[in-house]
Amino acid sequence: MLRWGALMRIFKATVQRCVVFLFIYLWMFLISTQYASANEVIAKGREVVRQHCTRCHVVPDMNPYGGIGSTPSFAAMKWLPDWEHRFEVFYTLPPHPALVKILGLSEERVASLPAFVAEIELQIDDVEAILAFVRTLATPDQ
Ligand code: HEC
Repeated sequence: MLRWGALMRIFKATVQRCVVFLFIYLWMFLISTQYASANEVIAKGREVVRQHCTRCHVVPDMNPYGGIGSTPSFAAMKWLPDWEHRFEVFYTLPPHPALVKILGLSEERVASLPAFVAEIELQIDDVEAILAFVRTLATPDQ
């Protein structure tokens, strides 16, 4: 009888430990998937920027000698205190309305705007991804 009680205690302790470890594993799994998806968003933003923004903007580690002289580099823009806001609404700031269309958000291109380049079509998710990517850029020393 005594032995049986001891076995039960060991059994209970083992089960308790298993439950605790199960929760730790679950928690680690959740953290790692969140981390992975944050990285995916950044990678997506990097691709959108590489594809559409480097034509005019200099972006660190992408096109140090590219871009158009009159266009601010992405790194330099991070000196501005409100750079995040500018990236959130960049498609409304000139010259972008003439070339960037956010699907389901922007109005059809106004006929009077110059159609000098192929329109860049983006989803609102892409704008968030661009911001996530630009957050990872180092602000250069002034
Ligand atoms: C056709 C050239 C061109 C392309 C392509 C372009 N930009 Fe720009 N962008 C400019 C110019 C020129 C300015 C500076 C406007 C000014 O000085 O008022 C600018 C300014 C900006 C600014 C600062 C806006 C402000 O008024 O403060 C942001 C943010 C920006 N661009 C983001 C982007 C992103 C993100 C992309 C890619 C999806 C992109 N741009 C693609 C030409 C371009």
